[in-house]
Amino acid sequence: MSWNQFIGFAILGLTLAQLHSVNSQADVTTCKSPFALVGDKCLLFSNKWLNWYEADRQCRSQSAQLLSVQNVSQLQAINNWMNITNPYTIEFWTSGNKFGNTQNLYFWESTGQQAKYLPWAKGQPQPKEGDCLMLFSPTYGGVVSSDYLLSVRDCAAWATIVCEQVPTNSVQRVCLMPNSFEMAQVQQK
Ligand SMILES: *[C@@H]1O[C@H](CO)[C@@H](O)[C@H](O)[C@H]1NC(C)=O
Ligand SMILES: *[C@@H]1O[C@H](CO)[C@@H](O)[C@H](O)[C@H]1NC(C)=O
Repeated sequence: MSWNQFIGFAILGLTLAQLHSVNSQADVTTCKSPFALVGDKCLLFSNKWLNWYEADRQCRSQSAQLLSVQNVSQLQAINNWMNITNPYTIEFWTSGNKFGNTQNLYFWESTGQQAKYLPWAKGQPQPKEGDCLMLFSPTYGGVVSSDYLLSVRDCAAWATIVCEQVPTNSVQRVCLMPNSFEMAQVQQK
């Protein structure tokens, strides 16, 4: 239901029922500017070329983390967003790494969890290349395909970065009264 329909519906309800007030609420998912809502994440791309450690610090300095990818719907949302907003990007850092792990297990530094969903690029993984994971897109005839998949890299290499934040979920309560209109947004977490 669109916002206008929602208000229209609430006003209609008020008129028909001749109620003194109508209380309604809607769930709202928002990101803090300049982060953009992409699927279920708030994301920010930076065109600065940084090594993994600098990239991690850069995100933390903005109250964010380097990107993690939990499943195919998140990957598709990220790929579509990059295709539209940053179409010439070949590769960017994620929070994925295997620091101090001898079994080639990868972890998302942003969540502390083992990476179970590992959509590897062609010819990957190459654990000897390094400890850090980036999302890499092949190019066809000089055109970036925006079909990003995981690739192992030397953490000292340079790449662009995507930082993530958890969206803010709030409930918007609308209270309609005969002569006034009040709205309150309540943060849940
Ligand atoms: C993808 O992962 C996120 C985070 O764990 C979860 O909230 C979401 O429901 C998952 N989506 C699918 C389609 O599995
Ligand atoms: C990127 O966008 C182009 C059109 O602008 C489309 O043809 C292509 O399939 C898209 N690629 C991905 C991976 O979404």
